[in-house]
Amino acid sequence: MSLREVLACVKLLLLLHVVAELRSDGPQRWPVPYRRFDRRPPVDPYCEAFYPFCPTGDRDGRLPRMRDSDVVSVYRLQTPVWEFKYGDALGKFHIMHDAVGFSSLETGANYTMEWYELFQLGNCTFPHLRPDVFAPFWCNQGAACFFDGIDDLHWSQNGTLEKIGEVTGTQFNAMAQWVQEDNQTGIYYETWTARSDPGPNATVWFESYDCSQFVHRTYRKLAQLGAKLSSRSQTNYTKIYLYSGEPSYLGNESAIFGQPALKNLALDIRRFYHPFRPHQSIFDLAFSLLEAYEEVVMDKSFYLYYNFEYWHLPMKPPYVQITYEEVPLP
Ligand SMILES: *[C@@H]1O[C@H](CO)[C@@H](O)[C@H](O)[C@H]1NC(C)=O
Ligand SMILES: *[C@@H]1O[C@H](CO)[C@@H](O)[C@H](O)[C@H]1NC(C)=O
Ligand SMILES: *[C@@H]1O[C@H](CO)[C@@H](O)[C@H](O)[C@H]1NC(C)=O
Ligand SMILES: *[C@@H]1O[C@H](CO)[C@@H](O)[C@H](O)[C@H]1NC(C)=O
Ligand SMILES: *[C@@H]1O[C@H](CO)[C@@H](O)[C@H](O)[C@H]1NC(C)=O
Ligand SMILES: *[C@@H]1O[C@H](CO)[C@@H](O)[C@H](O)[C@H]1NC(C)=O
Ligand SMILES: *[C@@H]1O[C@H](CO)[C@@H](O)[C@H](O)[C@H]1NC(C)=O
Repeated sequence: MSLREVLACVKLLLLLHVVAELRSDGPQRWPVPYRRFDRRPPVDPYCEAFYPFCPTGDRDGRLPRMRDSDVVSVYRLQTPVWEFKYGDALGKFHIMHDAVGFSSLETGANYTMEWYELFQLGNCTFPHLRPDVFAPFWCNQGAACFFDGIDDLHWSQNGTLEKIGEVTGTQFNAMAQWVQEDNQTGIYYETWTARSDPGPNATVWFESYDCSQFVHRTYRKLAQLGAKLSSRSQTNYTKIYLYSGEPSYLGNESAIFGQPALKNLALDIRRFYHPFRPHQSIFDLAFSLLEAYEEVVMDKSFYLYYNFEYWHLPMKPPYVQITYEEVPLP
């Protein structure tokens, strides 16, 4: 090979290297976009719902079709997560569940729409460590549920039931179609919001994907369709935050748990999740979050599972926080 050929070859290699760098280490977009799927996969039989999902909803998840000329009222619904064993303790922490209500002027019928976990919150926040399966096993699907009726007492007594606007039947039907698409493509629950610090200019690394995010998406969709929404009171929502420096990408399940070279990382991830029990009540979960707090303060380290991939978060104060903060209507 001549010197010129060698140089050309080196240049080519450098170029390939640059391309590779751009692809693998190119500037990361924050927050990492939540991954959408073509359709919802069947549920693994290992995952068992303690409470059946959406027991009174339409079996095929259909929403009623409103007459175009109908006037449909929209309600903001919020109630403390209530745990049978512990009463309203979680209300004191402002751990709230959010939903949207609708009522038709023409038929008088009303409806509730919410988005929640198929296998309860603990299962969406922490995986199962199965003796026979090396990779942590997640039962973390969430979905939309639309059903007849609004239980006024349930929402209004310790929470909120407030009419925030009206839409036409046409707008409702357009929203209904969007709900189906959203429900087909956004399939798993994400408890945590990860960001760089508590200040107003913080960088958000990961957004949560939970019941309140669904409510915000619905409001945005309705506003985009022309609806005007307004509330007389402050519209606050529960957020569960992790605080960390810039996260680093580790890989997906097969990359980490299928490669002998990454055995130490795989074991470390398993060790990290070991203290957390996923099959737990919401109250046990609050305790687990406190344990999580101790662990992340000690190790300054958190393994986050997002888009079916693992990330490492270099944790920093105040580490973990549950807030109840305002998110204005669109
Ligand atoms: C969490 O998942 C496990 C395994 O699928 C299941 O046995 C348990 O009932 C679920 N937890 C709750 C609270 O439903
Ligand atoms: C959303 O998907 C779940 C799971 O497949 C289904 O049970 C539910 O009926 C769907 N909801 C709507 C509103 O389409
Ligand atoms: C929903 O309908 C029920 C039954 O008609 C009624 O008792 C309740 O007040 C209605 N709620 C709203 C918010 O429209
Ligand atoms: C509201 O809170 C009270 C006291 O905390 C409780 O006894 C009651 O059952 C709650 N109501 C509803 C509808 O959850
Ligand atoms: C946030 O950013 C804005 C605009 O760059 C700046 O004016 C403001 O002082 C910053 N606030 C904090 C708390 O850093
Ligand atoms: C996991 O990551 C590897 C390597 O980055 C990739 O080749 C593979 O397709 C991914 N698997 C899934 C299920 O996404
Ligand atoms: C609602 O949020 C605002 C701003 O985020 C906060 O100042 C206020 O204290 C919150 N209200 C409650 C009841 O926590």
